[in-house]
Formats: sequence, C-alpha cells, structure tokens
Amino acid sequence: MTLNSKLTKLLNEQINNEMSSSYVYLAMAAWFEQTPYAGFAQWMFTQSREETMHALKFYQYLADRDAKVELEPIAKPKADFKSPLDVFQQSLKQEEKVTQQINDLYEVAEQVKDHASKNLLLWFLNEQMEEEKIVRDMLDRLKLAGNDPASLLVLDREAGSRPAGGGGGADAGRTAR
Ligand SMILES: [Fe+2]
Ligand SMILES: [Fe+2]
Repeated sequence: MTLNSKLTKLLNEQINNEMSSSYVYLAMAAWFEQTPYAGFAQWMFTQSREETMHALKFYQYLADRDAKVELEPIAKPKADFKSPLDVFQQSLKQEEKVTQQINDLYEVAEQVKDHASKNLLLWFLNEQMEEEKIVRDMLDRLKLAGNDPASLLVLDREAGSRPAGGGGGADAGRTAR
C-alpha cells in the first residue's frame, strides 16, 4: 500500500522534529557540562541520543514503506539557561510539543486509514507519555530542592545514574537500525 502523500510529508517533518529535539537536548547537555552538574549533563546527552534514535525510526519506517525521505536543515538550538530547573522546564515543554505533533500525525493516519502508521505512532504516543512522566518527576524534585546545593547534587547524582537509552528509547535503538 502506497503511503499517503500528506502522511509522507508529515512523517518526513517528524524526522526533522526529532533531530531538532536531539539538538535541543545536546545544547542542554553542553550547558550542563559547563556547570558542576555532571549527572544532568549525562541525562541530557542520553536524551539527545534517544531523540536521534526516534528520528532514525521514522526514517526506517519511510524507507520500509518505499516512501521518499527528504531531510531538511536543523535549527540552531537555544544555548543559554538560568538554572537546572529552567532547563528541565524547557525540556518538559519540548516533550509536550512533540506529543502534540505525534497526536496530530496519528489523527492523519486515522483519516487515511493507514493502520501500519497508526501502529508506529501508537508506540511513539506511549513513549511520549513515559518521557513526559520522567521529566515531570524530576521537575517536581527540582522544585523541592530549590536553591539548596546539597539537594541539587543528590538529584544530579540520581540523574547521572539513569540507564543509558532508558525508557522506551532502548527499544527504539534496537529497532531503528
Ligand atoms: Fe522523540
Ligand atoms: Fe522525547
């Protein structure tokens, strides 16, 4: 079954959205590298890699469906932040934006009755739910910690011990090839 042209265009855009996300998180990791928070830097680096895996999963899907892959430029990410809390707040916004994009994509897949695409997008919807939850949990604890350096360092250590490719991302890594 030929992939619908509107869906093809949107899936290509999603490759770009995921690569942009990856770049956003890499810039966050780089910002943390300049601070004492090595754990948060590690967290954002891992997050960046997961987003690249998401982009590759969309790439592979388009290729498998014999649809044309079209790559666009990736925008320069924001590089300056006020605090760890600020970074994680923007991280949550980023995830909420992506959830909206995947939701919209799912709706189009439904309209054109492309069930294979719906299946792919369902995986992403679950992934988004998990990612939003993880970021929200960390945000809640960052708010509790406030400006207390000892508490922040505890959270930093915890962030650093997050398994590489954690969450559904590890699965994306395996299937994205
Ligand atoms: Fe993603
Ligand atoms: Fe994400």
